[in-house]
Amino acid sequence: MTVYLNGEFLPESEAKISVLDRGFLFGDGVYEVVPVFGGRLFRLEQHLDRLDRSLSAIRIDPPLDRAGWTRMLEDLVARNPGDDRSVYLQVTRGVARRDHAFPPDVPPTVFAMVSPIKAPDPALFAQGVSALTVPDTRWNRCDIKAITLLANILARQQAVEAGAAEAILVRGGFATEGAASNLFVVADGVIVTPPKDTSLLPGITRDLVVELAHKHGLPVMESAIPEASLRDAEEIWLTSSTKEILPVTRLDERAVGEGRPGPVWRRMFDLYQDYKR
Ligand code: PDD
Repeated sequence: MTVYLNGEFLPESEAKISVLDRGFLFGDGVYEVVPVFGGRLFRLEQHLDRLDRSLSAIRIDPPLDRAGWTRMLEDLVARNPGDDRSVYLQVTRGVARRDHAFPPDVPPTVFAMVSPIKAPDPALFAQGVSALTVPDTRWNRCDIKAITLLANILARQQAVEAGAAEAILVRGGFATEGAASNLFVVADGVIVTPPKDTSLLPGITRDLVVELAHKHGLPVMESAIPEASLRDAEEIWLTSSTKEILPVTRLDERAVGEGRPGPVWRRMFDLYQDYKR
């Protein structure tokens, strides 16, 4: 695998960073995951917009401009041919003696790599996945795509140990998103997802699902989801760049709706697949 590190393309085994990198010591950085479908970086502009917002929120000057990011990412994808893939891109505040405050005049560390996206098991779309509700113990800026993911990791692990695929995070009585995905429910035939605020990541897949619903006349609403309403939802979905749109058919060991992927999910899944081509 060829990776990108600070201006160079290298074999992964030769890419080295300092133990003083602030990403390593503090989790002081941000990231993006951009899917590559049919050789094309999917919704790249939206991912780069979000990267700009994350960098600006943590006050790192963008190390590359829009054309520079695009050129680098396209080059990296070309050097790592394959089927569906995703690019992981990380920017940290760079290498400096350990001190919490920002170091002066240190260039950020920029790293990118390509990973295969596992094609979903067809059984998964026939049966759906299980999810577990878990208290959201994260900080108050979940809109920043920070590499500091300890609370997400603990939530996902709790779900996995309970035999579930994803944790659905609950904050102040409302379900906000998954440990690494956004949340949708279908209630009375209406697709509902929480509005974008600091309690969740503004997912690129989430935005596309909302856009496709509007475009194709499916009723959709951005509205907070009380935890209790998850129990009466006809359908629950989770979305992300690598998982696309996953139907959740069991929540906390109880069936969701009919216990099978629902008709609204099927319609949205098909619209998404058409859009990808
Ligand atoms: N995670 N919410 C959280 C907390 C996430 O980490 C992600 C994505 C999403 C979905 O966003 P998008 O549709 O832009 O992928 C929502 C990535 C895939 C990851 O951490 O691997």
